[in-house]
Amino acid sequence: MTRHKASKPGKRDRTVVLKKTLPERLPAHALWHGEVEAFLAALPRRRVFDLVITSPPYNTGKPYETKVELTQYLLWQGAIIAAIVPRLKPGGSICWQVGNYVENGYIRPLDVLLHPIFESHDLLLRNRVVWRFGHGLHAKKRFSGRYEVILWYTRDEDYTFNLDAVRIPSKYPGKKHYKGPKAGKISGNPDGKNPEDVWDIPNVVARHREKASHPCQFPVGLVERLVLALSKPRGLVFDPFCGVGSAGVAAAAHGRRFWGCEISAEYVRQAKARIDPAIEGKAEYRRHDKQVYDHKDSPLSLRPIGHVLRALRDEAGLTQAQLAKASHLSQVTISKYESGCMPIRSDKVPALAKALAVPPFRLFMTDAEWRRWERNA
Ligand SMILES: C[S@@+](CC[C@H](N)C(=O)[O-])C[C@H]1O[C@@H](n2cnc3c(N)ncnc32)[C@H](O)[C@@H]1O
Repeated sequence: MTRHKASKPGKRDRTVVLKKTLPERLPAHALWHGEVEAFLAALPRRRVFDLVITSPPYNTGKPYETKVELTQYLLWQGAIIAAIVPRLKPGGSICWQVGNYVENGYIRPLDVLLHPIFESHDLLLRNRVVWRFGHGLHAKKRFSGRYEVILWYTRDEDYTFNLDAVRIPSKYPGKKHYKGPKAGKISGNPDGKNPEDVWDIPNVVARHREKASHPCQFPVGLVERLVLALSKPRGLVFDPFCGVGSAGVAAAAHGRRFWGCEISAEYVRQAKARIDPAIEGKAEYRRHDKQVYDHKDSPLSLRPIGHVLRALRDEAGLTQAQLAKASHLSQVTISKYESGCMPIRSDKVPALAKALAVPPFRLFMTDAEWRRWERNA
């Protein structure tokens, strides 16, 4: 849980919800409850955005969107991008985070389809960041999708990029130069390394601490890295499809201003409820540089005992009764799908391994791993 201090919080700094009309001067933190098209139409054509970051609807038929023909979708996105570009400040950036449009089981990568639109505005693609996450649906007839993409464009050759703000721990901080004038000296940056362009950041699923009621909110940490690297304090971050305001939380937590647009009243309400504490330095989220949880620490990562026993039965030819005796369980069920299997309890491992005359680590190996180990032993 992270708490960041924002500069001089005060009532006037809180997020203002706007609808239908824009005041002459927009507040530092504003949420437009309505279509982004209307917001942009009402906004004077001036260069005000330092960083635009969004995850638009993907045209997949989520509750907040009406699925349309792909061409129509791209035309709609193109019109919004065309209205945003003239409002981007010199040195500013646009980050468009997208996944795949899936139809009848085949995929159309939205970043590939959208790129020509950005290019037609002479924007310069700096990175195609792969955001990799660990949870999602399991596909049956293709490999399960576990990444989405962030297209990062700049308006100019000269642009804000603060690498030091987003360094992450190096893999080998003790590594030294082995030859040349610096031989023997530490070779890496003591403040950490460039986070590279493949980011492992958990997606916001059921038990994530940031989970609001939105079905596809992006993690604050994902935006945080972009906000820190691509904008300066007090800069203006804009999210045209802001959902429950994750970009606003990251912006406010780091002293940036934020404007967001959202058509759902409920998401606007939740966005305000999340951004306001962030303005006061009380943002609660998972930091961009937090290590991904090592699944091997979970008791669920132990192989179910039934899997192990089945492997041993098949390999060692032990009978059901022998297995039951060996495992000290009154009954062993070896079903086809191993449903209802029990995880191996660590206190049972030595006895079970002894009874089966295998080294204890065998019980935690797959058959293939075991065969490999035996071959190399
Ligand atoms: C993929 S979600 C964005 C989620 C957001 N990144 C978050 O973390 O909560 C897209 C959002 O765009 C909103 N939306 C759809 N059409 C819109 C429009 N024309 N103007 C503004 N918002 C729109 C949807 O209601 C939805 O919440």
